[in-house]
Amino acid sequence: MKYKAVIFDLDGVICHTDKYHYQAWKHVADELGIYFDETINNRLRGVSRMESFEIILERYSGTMTEEEKIRYTTEKNEVYKELLKNMSPDDLTDEVKETLYELRKMGLKLAIGSSSKNARFILERLGLGDFFDAISDGNNITNSKPDPEVFVKAASFVGEEPQNCLVVEDAKAGLQAAIAGGMDCAAIGDACESDLATWKLDSFEMLKKVVA
Ligand code: BG6
Ligand code: MG
Repeated sequence: MKYKAVIFDLDGVICHTDKYHYQAWKHVADELGIYFDETINNRLRGVSRMESFEIILERYSGTMTEEEKIRYTTEKNEVYKELLKNMSPDDLTDEVKETLYELRKMGLKLAIGSSSKNARFILERLGLGDFFDAISDGNNITNSKPDPEVFVKAASFVGEEPQNCLVVEDAKAGLQAAIAGGMDCAAIGDACESDLATWKLDSFEMLKKVVA
C-alpha cells in the first residue's frame, strides 16, 4: 500500500455542500449588489468564511467596517445552516460510501481535513458522525488552507507521518496546503484544473487504485 492514511476534504469531496456555500454567498452578494458567479465561487473553495467574504468584497465599491463584515458572514452562515438542515444520508452517494468502506477494509486510516466549522454537523447529517478516525476542521485551526495546518493536525490525530498520508481535495488551496504539509494529494472536480496534484481523479472510486 502506498499510504497509511487518507485525509479527505469535506465540502465538494465527500458531499456537495459546495453548492450550498455558493447559494448562501449568492444571497449575501445579491443583498449587497455585488456581482458573484460560479467562477468567483471556485476561488472560495477551501478558504475560511471571512477570507471568502474578502474575496467577494473585491467587487464591492463601498467600504465596510469589521462589525458589518461579521454581520454579513454570520448571515451567510445562517442561510447555509438552513440549507444543511435538508441534508440526509441520501446525500451521500453509493460510490462515496462504498469507496470509504473499501478503503477502511484495506487497512487505511481515514480522516477529515476541512476548513469548515460546520463539518461535524454535516457528517452527522450524512450518517457519518462516527465513521472517521479523526476530524480536523475549522474549529481546531488558526490558519486556513493553503496553510497546511488542518492536514498536519489530521495526520497527527491519526498518528501518521505526513509522507504516509494522501489528501483528497476539490480546491487548489487544498492542494497547496497538502504539498506545504509534505503530503501527496489527489485532485477531484475543480482542483483537476490545477497541475499541482500528485493524482487526478476521474471519479471518487478511482481512489482505490491510487492508494493500492
Ligand atoms: C471549506 C469550503 O470547506 O470551508 C469554503 O470549501 C468555506 O468554501 C470553508 O468557506 C469554511 O466553511 P464554514 O462552514 O465554516 O463557513
Ligand atoms: Mg472542498
